[in-house]
Amino acid sequence: MSGAPIITLTPAPTLDRTYFVHNLIEGAVNRADGVVEELAGKGINVTRGLYLSGVKAPGVIPIGNSDPGVLARTGSIEQFIPHWVDGTLRVSTTIVEKDGPTTKVNEAPRPLSDSDWKEVVDLTIATVKENGAQWLIIAGALPVDKGTNTFVDLTPLFDAMTAIGVRVAMDTSGEPLRRYATLGLPAVIKPNAHELAETVGRDLFTVGDVIDAARELCEHGIECVLASLGPDGMVAVTKEHAWQAKTPPVKVINTVGAGDATLAGFLTAIITNPVEGPDEFGVGFNVPRGVKFAVQYGAVAVTQPNSGLENLDNMPEASVNADPDRSVPLEEVAHAKPTK
Ligand SMILES: Nc1ncnc2c1ncn2[C@@H]1O[C@H](COP(=O)(O)OP(=O)(O)OP(=O)(O)O)[C@@H](O)[C@H]1O
Ligand SMILES: [Mg+2]
Repeated sequence: MSGAPIITLTPAPTLDRTYFVHNLIEGAVNRADGVVEELAGKGINVTRGLYLSGVKAPGVIPIGNSDPGVLARTGSIEQFIPHWVDGTLRVSTTIVEKDGPTTKVNEAPRPLSDSDWKEVVDLTIATVKENGAQWLIIAGALPVDKGTNTFVDLTPLFDAMTAIGVRVAMDTSGEPLRRYATLGLPAVIKPNAHELAETVGRDLFTVGDVIDAARELCEHGIECVLASLGPDGMVAVTKEHAWQAKTPPVKVINTVGAGDATLAGFLTAIITNPVEGPDEFGVGFNVPRGVKFAVQYGAVAVTQPNSGLENLDNMPEASVNADPDRSVPLEEVAHAKPTK
């Protein structure tokens, strides 16, 4: 595989297993009418979204060697580069009731050994170099190290990417997001409003609060914060500018994975529209074009039933405002701490 502009890394992929039942009875034996399995994880979704756009973006994944057929079975051979680790993949279980609610049980990421993580890091760096990629996307939850029980360390990846001039975009949450965002290591992060509130440690009420929180992270060294705001679209913030992109309302079917679709849209736009001549956006990539595509891809994603994008049909128009109205309240207050 050579010549891909983007490489993704999903440090803790999962096997998504969905059971379709007539109606779920808690505490009883239930029979499934059908079961489907899918390889899932945020970076995996970004890779798939980018391939749908015609942008090559192979994904590196640590994956359990006890189930060697999993890639072929889930139609994932072409786009992914596995690092085989002992054991099986973690499993996320979804139970979909006919005309009823959906129940999810997600297994936490399985711990990785220090040597496996080092090999994942080395494989990722080698893949970026072989492809001459311009971007590395690190997305999804991080596993903990088997020995220390602390999150695996991304610093060697950031150091290696800085050394070869490759930008890193990161989409994760909780402590790892706060750590790397406040160190200013990623070029781009894509928190949703709640993740942004958690990262800066205060509640966010308005679009202006989102811009201020994002700008605080730009001061730490992040080039562009893409704050996704569900139905309010997305605010993209750099040190000097802020843009808000929105689509008209769409019929929402499933919002899971919409954030991953926005990242695929953003990256599609900036890879296919490189900045030439003076860098009017101050960061070397076309942020307004990127944020426009981001919300268009996000809107398509929420109208589709699966967490991954199935196709890019019925793309709505989107507007981009270079002077967002700071006083507009968010659809929901974004709390810095869980409210229950
Ligand atoms: N109700 C909605 N109506 C229209 N567009 C939506 C809606 N919800 C989400 N979107 C689109 O999807 C994008 C991402 O949504 P959101 O902010 O919910 O991401 P997220 O919480 O990171 O999702 P995930 O982590 O599950 O992928 C938004 O920026 C917007 O473009
Ligand atoms: Mg998200």
